[in-house]
Amino acid sequence: MEVIASPLEMQQTALGLRQAGKRIGLVPTMGFLHEGHLSLVRLARAQSDIVILSIFVNPTQFGPNEDFKEYPHDFERDRALCAAAGVDIIFNPSLEAMYPAIAPSVAQRAMDGGQGTMADKMAGRPAGYAVYLEPGDLAHGLCGAARPGHFRGVLTVVAKLFNLTMPTVAVFGQKDAQQLRLIEQMVRDLNFPIAIVRAPIVRESDGLAKSSRNTYLSPAERRESLCLMQALKTARNLYRKGERAAPRIIEAMQALIESVASAHVDYVAIVDADTLEPVPRLEAPALVALAVYIGKTRLIDNLTLPDDGASNLPE
Ligand code: PAJ
Repeated sequence: MEVIASPLEMQQTALGLRQAGKRIGLVPTMGFLHEGHLSLVRLARAQSDIVILSIFVNPTQFGPNEDFKEYPHDFERDRALCAAAGVDIIFNPSLEAMYPAIAPSVAQRAMDGGQGTMADKMAGRPAGYAVYLEPGDLAHGLCGAARPGHFRGVLTVVAKLFNLTMPTVAVFGQKDAQQLRLIEQMVRDLNFPIAIVRAPIVRESDGLAKSSRNTYLSPAERRESLCLMQALKTARNLYRKGERAAPRIIEAMQALIESVASAHVDYVAIVDADTLEPVPRLEAPALVALAVYIGKTRLIDNLTLPDDGASNLPE
């Protein structure tokens, strides 16, 4: 297994592999790997000759009051897990390499009094990283409403990772259902020659969806965090009994969560599984999605109804 930090070296390696006819499978992550990430590696493995797993905690997808600085990391542990899972290359770029604050050639021109915006010249420094992807309507609701700019940052970094690793397939988890839909849309709209594979949600034995952020929970919060999957089970039970009115299902889910001391609902929503627009009734495949603060930790989970199995929600 190789570890590559330089974006240029990554791109040249990927280009060489593609020219040699290899199929590359990419698994983008922010590290602190768990079984959810490793299930993505196995799906990538099944469809490619070379598996690249990227580890990069992407600052542009975190809001100013979010956990960018505290995001957990343990590179040696991640490296051992990747080696055991059959990853061929870990791509682990630095912040500066992905988002150069100052590109030297621009800096030089600005100092020479040439290019650069007026504001940059007045501030005495050249422009840094500047171009982002605009996600469009799919980013307006759900997590996009609560986290402005989040999906702009996600799409931008994923597009950069695609250009650097040149995958034939890339695997993303259904755990982040809105992110997955947005990436599928980006690949379609911007004509990336990449197949996107959807990976089912991997859960702890008691049903909590695995997440690098679960590590923030105290023992009491860890027990109370089960209310997310219990709320989804409530939705599934009502649906099985024939309930199709979205407001009634949402109300029952909210009541369950609000009965838990440390829990505070960010959103509970039922949307069309494709457009992510809220639906009044569950007639076509619908995504039941929720984000809940357990203490200070924001957790998400979801279920598609009729249940397609991707949520792995226990009975
Ligand atoms: P991260 O949260 O590290 O997740 C990396 C990938 O693992 C995502 O596709 C996510 O959906 C998937 N994943 C996480 N928990 C999972 C679980 N319990 N079951 C199945 N899949 C799971 O998502 C990101 O990083 C970032 O936004 C990224 C795409 C890397 C861009 O920065």
